[in-house]
Amino acid sequence: MATNRTFTMLKPDAVEKGHIGAILEKISASGFKIVAMKLTQLTKADAEEFYAIHNERPFFADLVEYMTRGPIVAAILEKDNAVEDFRTLIGATNPEDAAEGTIRKLYAASISENAVHGSDSDENAAIEGAFHFSGRDTF
Ligand code: PPS
Repeated sequence: MATNRTFTMLKPDAVEKGHIGAILEKISASGFKIVAMKLTQLTKADAEEFYAIHNERPFFADLVEYMTRGPIVAAILEKDNAVEDFRTLIGATNPEDAAEGTIRKLYAASISENAVHGSDSDENAAIEGAFHFSGRDTF
């Protein structure tokens, strides 16, 4: 059964371009409640651990460099069917393939700088949320 929480990061490109407010507005307007949130910066070790499942992919080093180059916004979001509905809201990994109105279509520049992360399963949402937040920082 689907749980009602997912994990997101607004990635360095979105923060650099000043899109935090607009993206959070869209997330809220789409029915997601923010139950944990912070501005933070990943270390190289953090990014290598967070994306460890992709460490044999050709873009891994570039992904780690990109995700560590500046601040991100990390957040846990709550809504019925959160993981699937949030993946729909953000759109395809490559913004060229993303549907009109999705966050990546609106704010992402390319597949390698795609503005936002969304967990791909309930299991990973729980793991990724716990990577960034303790129980006392989650409401
Ligand atoms: S997904 O969303 O997990 O199904 O997509 P996937 O293709 O498996 O990509 C895994 C994460 O790697 C990022 N990605 C890339 N980064 C740099 N360059 C290229 N070419 C590239 N392709 C994919 C992608 O955005 C995924 O990161 P997250 O943070 O999950 O969006």
